[in-house]
Amino acid sequence: SGRLVVAVDGPSGSGKSSVSKQVARSLGAVYLDTGAMYRAAAWHCVNEGVDLDDADAVTEAVRGMELTQSTDPDSEHIAVGGHDVTEAIRTPEVTAVVSRVAGVIPVREILQGRQRAEIERAGRIVAEGRDVTTVVAPDAEARVLLTASEQVRMARRSGQLAAAASGVDAETLKAQVAGRDRTDSAHSSFERPADGVTLVDSSELDFDQTVAAVLAAVQLQA
Ligand code: C5P
Repeated sequence: SGRLVVAVDGPSGSGKSSVSKQVARSLGAVYLDTGAMYRAAAWHCVNEGVDLDDADAVTEAVRGMELTQSTDPDSEHIAVGGHDVTEAIRTPEVTAVVSRVAGVIPVREILQGRQRAEIERAGRIVAEGRDVTTVVAPDAEARVLLTASEQVRMARRSGQLAAAASGVDAETLKAQVAGRDRTDSAHSSFERPADGVTLVDSSELDFDQTVAAVLAAVQLQA
């Protein structure tokens, strides 16, 4: 099996992470969650007490961040400076600030560089995020934009939010996610796929059908 880079982008609630992991298993590939890297960067800045309004300080903190991340689709582990943050990066506190950290251009360049290095190293990989098809790996063998209708994404999100909720009410969490989407839209567009990117709309598909649709897109492109 030679080089096979599959890039999958999409908004939250599109089912991108679980679908990408299953696609990786089917292809015997590893899996890279780029969103987890932005979350780890945000966790690190908060943990170090960095002023999030100070772009230079945020950039320096992320440049010095020692990140280790599992690329096994069956074991999601991420650590900063040897400290396991797999669960800490999913808390509402980190989720509330991740878009601000991800909005710092030099932070994006640092993490995009690390993502490209990981993709090159792996060779056979499914890399998932928001700018993988367009910026990180526009030369990927297969590129997919995974979307779902606003209604379906909201429903899936409230399911996820309910599962993750820890004392914070659903309305607050929903508002936070909506705010994150607005901030994120500055550096990613999910309205239409870029040239050469296959659109998979999962609104009317169940999980297995969505995985099959992505695998079909991979087979057509690669
Ligand atoms: O995918 P996930 O929701 O975990 O991503 C968390 C955040 O990381 C996003 O809201 C976005 O701000 C940022 N992100 C990004 N570029 C990516 C992946 C994630 O800016 N490729």
